[in-house]
Amino acid sequence: MPNHQYWEEFEFDRHPGANVISCLMDIQKNPVNKMGEKTTPVAWEQGCLEEVCGSCSMLVNGKPRQACTALIEKYIQETGSLTINLAPFTKFPLIRDLCVDRTRMFDSLKKVKAWISVDGTTDNGEFGPPVSPEVQEALYVLSTCMVCGCCSEGCPQVNPDSKFMGPAAMSQVRLFNSNPTGKLEKSERLNAVLGEEGIAGCGNAQNCVRVCPKKIPLTESLSLIGREATKQSLKNFFSLPDAKEE
Ligand code: SF4
Ligand code: SF4
Ligand code: FES
Repeated sequence: MPNHQYWEEFEFDRHPGANVISCLMDIQKNPVNKMGEKTTPVAWEQGCLEEVCGSCSMLVNGKPRQACTALIEKYIQETGSLTINLAPFTKFPLIRDLCVDRTRMFDSLKKVKAWISVDGTTDNGEFGPPVSPEVQEALYVLSTCMVCGCCSEGCPQVNPDSKFMGPAAMSQVRLFNSNPTGKLEKSERLNAVLGEEGIAGCGNAQNCVRVCPKKIPLTESLSLIGREATKQSLKNFFSLPDAKEE
């Protein structure tokens, strides 16, 4: 198949509050490149415009991040260059221009049951079992994951030849296994992360934690889930019932 990847350059007037998305919007309004040629507007994704939905994630000067909070003036100051490079993530199938298909991440969340089942088969009372403020505080940061894909983009173990689900799914196992109701499906989640698709896929390069925009302690989650998964595989081997929660 021919390689359709190419670079295209655009010029802008400098504005104090401009960010990458506002520049892309300017291109959309007037799709004329630096050579003065009319071209197709660049395709990208966006949603919240406040670093909550993760849909605008892309490589800005080679680093994974959200375009909506990438301030142009900050980049110019930091790099001393008036040029900013944008590129799509490389670990996901390319749809067009800056849009990629992150289905792989959502499929991983399905595999690890990254939710709490409320199917009416257990009586959780009106509000469910209480969660202490300490646990709430510890879990809050895990709940801020926006499935942006920055961690997978930065992880050397996520590539077309590997089945590794990536660190975000492992961290969500920690989140839902720590919830009093979520614990009911703890074993199922841990069984889903046994093997190369799961925790064994991590090579401990620690790039993920450096690029996560939400500062989620991914390596901490990976080592915790690694220990839990080992216990689960021993339980499976000896066909033991689920151990009591510590
Ligand atoms: S863990 Fe961080 S980098 Fe990874 S998908 Fe979630 S928010 Fe994005
Ligand atoms: S620790 Fe390294 S190998 Fe493991 S998920 Fe993070 S970046 Fe990938
Ligand atoms: S548009 Fe939602 S994070 Fe950028």
